[in-house]
Amino acid sequence: MHPELTITWHLPDGRTLATPGWSKLNLLAHADTHDLELPQACGGHAECGTCRVRILAGELTPARHEERELMTRHARRFRQAERLACQARPLGDVTVEVLAMIPPDLRDVEDEPG
Ligand code: FES
Repeated sequence: MHPELTITWHLPDGRTLATPGWSKLNLLAHADTHDLELPQACGGHAECGTCRVRILAGELTPARHEERELMTRHARRFRQAERLACQARPLGDVTVEVLAMIPPDLRDVEDEPG
């Protein structure tokens, strides 16, 4: 499938990554595709808020009822421009700040040289 857009991710460790994207996939699914381990404690049901990211540029689908309700119930915990990655789909090129990632299981990564 030909990419429709580009998602630029600013990761908690300071790295920046640009990946191809599609308007039919939410941000969490895009992250999974590129092995970016975003937290997702409720499995993408707009209940836990652990997947949230901050939008730095670009446009996403508007928040639906479940997302708006969670943000209202926990308004103090959501900063400006934060969205649930499991709910928001990109409408064009977007830049997002990833707030947290699950640390890698060190049994699955190669030893560092030295
Ligand atoms: S994974 Fe729980 S709100 Fe997105």
